[in-house]
Amino acid sequence: MPTDPLPTSRHKILLDADVGIDDAIAMLFLAGRPNAEIVGVGSVHGNIPSELAATNARRLLELCGLDDVPVAIGARRPMAQPLATAEWVHGADGLGNTNRPAPKRGPVAEDAVAQMLRLTREAPGEIDIVAVGPLTNLGLALCIDPSLAERVRSVTVMGGTIIHEGNASATGEANIWHDPEAAQLVFSAPWRATMVGLDVTQVTRLRAAELAEIEGLGTKRSHFAIEILAHYLDVYQRTFGARECPLHDPLAAGVAVDPSYVTESLRLAIDVSLAGANRGATVVDRRSWMAPAANDSERRERVGGDVGAPKGATDSPALVTIPMKVDGPRFVRDLIDTLKVGG
Ligand code: RIB
Ligand code: CA
Repeated sequence: MPTDPLPTSRHKILLDADVGIDDAIAMLFLAGRPNAEIVGVGSVHGNIPSELAATNARRLLELCGLDDVPVAIGARRPMAQPLATAEWVHGADGLGNTNRPAPKRGPVAEDAVAQMLRLTREAPGEIDIVAVGPLTNLGLALCIDPSLAERVRSVTVMGGTIIHEGNASATGEANIWHDPEAAQLVFSAPWRATMVGLDVTQVTRLRAAELAEIEGLGTKRSHFAIEILAHYLDVYQRTFGARECPLHDPLAAGVAVDPSYVTESLRLAIDVSLAGANRGATVVDRRSWMAPAANDSERRERVGGDVGAPKGATDSPALVTIPMKVDGPRFVRDLIDTLKVGG
């Protein structure tokens, strides 16, 4: 599990997404960042069915003039539970019922898991995966080829929550709740992983002033953003009592290409609850004398014996970076800037 800081160079992004409204804004952000290149998109079930998510990805890429980026259809259902979608949040078309024209080109023949394995074999150590939907494709890819974890430069997941309440259940965040088994596989793999959860995404919001600014930009991308956000804002108005919305997936994309948005983070092993009412919750041990230990032997050494060491645990746990505070205003400014691109 690499821990040294990544150079802030150009990022080759493989996006894995259930392209609904905030996924689409994340795509606009990545498409407008000079240090990011989207090298492929894999769709996944979640907000909407996987085929429709792939269609929306192609709609987005076409809008941004990125017609060459391959879009592969991914998992159509979770590993161990029935499919559940959230059209009430994202609209029947996943893009706020804007009913955009069908994209000109189709998806590639390869599926999203095969694409992930191939792209990371072709460019070992170069690909940053940004996963902003349920983690089924990543989990399946790890089952087929566990060495994937060594070939990927970084994995940034939008999902989970540590302190904030859940948004799909009392304790579960939607992307994890949609496929807890896949999430468990992803968080226990030995890669450089970051979990951008509700603790930071729910409080990083577009509010009236920023929405007015985006509306005033008058670009193709800003126009599209305002159009699809209308439905999302209607939904969140019921929760927040104000016309504002969280930036779940865009913030994860932001942290992937610029980790300096994060001002405070934890680095802990994540256990995903697989049973009972808390199925889909991301559980961490935040006790201060447990937290910073890199592995079990270090932990045992610190507490002077076996006290507190999990019974039978001999392997080092996979540690995940978990942002707890971000520079939201700077991120929102940068997001607005990306909507100016392309005229
Ligand atoms: O909980 C927020 C996440 O669930 C986002 O990725 C959103 O697009 C939905 O999939
Ligand atoms: Ca999403």
